[in-house]
Amino acid sequence: MRILGIETSCDETGVAIYDDEKGLLAHQLYSQVKLHADYGGVVPELASRDHVKKTIPLIKATLTEAGLTPKDLDGIAYTAGPGLAGALIVGASIGRSLAYAWNVPAVAIHHMEGHLLSPMLEEIQPPVPFISLLVTGGHTLLIEVKSMGEYVILGESIDDAVGEAFDKTANLMGFDYPGGSMLSKLAERGNSKRFTFPRPMTDRPSLDFSFSGLKTFTANTIAVNDKDEQTRADIARAFEDAVVDTLMIKCKLALKQRSMKRLVVAGGVGANRHLRVKLEQLTASIGGEVYYPRAEFCTDNGAMIAYAGMQRLKNGEHNDLEIEVFPRWPIDQLTAIKT
Ligand code: KG4
Ligand code: ZN
Repeated sequence: MRILGIETSCDETGVAIYDDEKGLLAHQLYSQVKLHADYGGVVPELASRDHVKKTIPLIKATLTEAGLTPKDLDGIAYTAGPGLAGALIVGASIGRSLAYAWNVPAVAIHHMEGHLLSPMLEEIQPPVPFISLLVTGGHTLLIEVKSMGEYVILGESIDDAVGEAFDKTANLMGFDYPGGSMLSKLAERGNSKRFTFPRPMTDRPSLDFSFSGLKTFTANTIAVNDKDEQTRADIARAFEDAVVDTLMIKCKLALKQRSMKRLVVAGGVGANRHLRVKLEQLTASIGGEVYYPRAEFCTDNGAMIAYAGMQRLKNGEHNDLEIEVFPRWPIDQLTAIKT
């Protein structure tokens, strides 16, 4: 069985083909980062228009890369939410229409389930159940994965998502959007002893997060200190330390509360090196394990949508001819995938 996956929920056009026997056959990604850089964030209308231009050529390129034709496909999966409505409609319309033309089933995929299942694209896959930390530009979620498709939200951000906090703080330090990974690079040269930033909401049993205060704390620190390169690096380091520590403390609490030892991390911020080191130390200290997708599958991609689509289509799910998207779609509304 071979599934074509299409991702267009935000500022990346991603297309991939997943085969249930051979694994990932091909994947292509086009990032709109340059298009939005001057605006300091994603401009929804520009994002939609660019997906219109890029999706079909990327599907062609992915088929060529895999050495396949549309006749070799058994289904199409597309991201139907959460995300930007216009951007989602592009992928959903193209995915749904091609499935009709090619006479194969189409299935609407939840973007965060794609991220959650992305570590399954790797050779060593985490066995369920596990705790999942999803850290992207739009969401921060701690989830108990009871079985495939059966998700319980243990905690989430009450304001900025982690990636958003990284990007806004990076912007304060003069980096273009999205500056999360640049801020992290700058932090590598910083002295972790110079500034200590708060670890928000870690003084209580709640598993929710709040990161907007940290951004303000950073802005205030920038305002009252010199602007030299070392000070910038020290502030970036203090910010990253505070975020990584906060995520680690909440993961530790979630694992303890749910009596689990297995942690899975996914989403763009999951590419952060310092976070990976910290979570490896945490799981090693409790005799557990942590799993990640490779860095390129932490950020948005078509492979995770093709993989999730494969699971849902095999489960007998598919959508009818109506083209529908869900810009807000809680992940705990999904149904279990029978194995
Ligand atoms: O998962 P993703 O591609 O997008 C959403 O679904 O939202 O995540 C993108 C986010 C951005 O905020 C980006 O700055 C952040 O992930 N990011 C990082 C790193 N690499 C990407 N944040 C911190 N450290 C990194 N190395
Ligand atoms: Zn994402």
